[in-house]
Amino acid sequence: MRYLKFALAKGRLANKAVALFDKIGMHMEEISDPDTRKLIFTNDQLGVTMFLAKPSDVPTYVEYGAADIGIVGKDTLLEEGRRLYEVMDLGFGKCRMCVCGPASAAQRLQHGELIRVASKYPNIAREYFYNKKHQTVEIIKLNGSVELAPIVGLSEVIVDIVETGSTLRENGLTVLEEICPLSARMVVNQVSMKMQNERIMKLIRDMKEAL
Ligand code: PRP
Repeated sequence: MRYLKFALAKGRLANKAVALFDKIGMHMEEISDPDTRKLIFTNDQLGVTMFLAKPSDVPTYVEYGAADIGIVGKDTLLEEGRRLYEVMDLGFGKCRMCVCGPASAAQRLQHGELIRVASKYPNIAREYFYNKKHQTVEIIKLNGSVELAPIVGLSEVIVDIVETGSTLRENGLTVLEEICPLSARMVVNQVSMKMQNERIMKLIRDMKEAL
């Protein structure tokens, strides 16, 4: 039997996905051990290999077929824009992609001014401002702690994930516009979907039942 290969976005999503796989009888030894430095895990009985990857790399592994299946957030899928099939909303990791900033920036969004937008998600920001709002903005790519940008004067607003809203609150910022809801998704390589169709469809059925 050919091994089915899974790429999991390491961190919170991988932990939840592993618990879900456990529930449907796909137990992977060691994968949840917080002390392990191993990146790849195999269950020979099931013919399954799982590996933990940086979230933004998961769609790349799946598009190229290095993984048949990926578990990753919708934010990453939108940002990376890879060719793959999105087959299931897993319902966990729920949050929202939003335009945020100080309340005083709301006016500048309404009047279509040329503002600076900082984000870890430049493609999502560009798509939203250019194609949806038809507002010309300058997009500045950051790699984390994006909430700093409007506080220190790097940008007027940010495009970022809001989950509980506490990072915004504790830094005097607020949601100004909502772009889209987000959650964890299961994605499948386009060739694997054809060649491993029976196994993958059964997996989808089992997971839907467990959810
Ligand atoms: C994410 C996101 C926000 C925060 C939102 O950051 O970019 O900063 O979580 O969560 P909250 O609404 O529950 O406060 P992450 O923790 O991934 O760190 P980073 O900003 O360094 O990427």
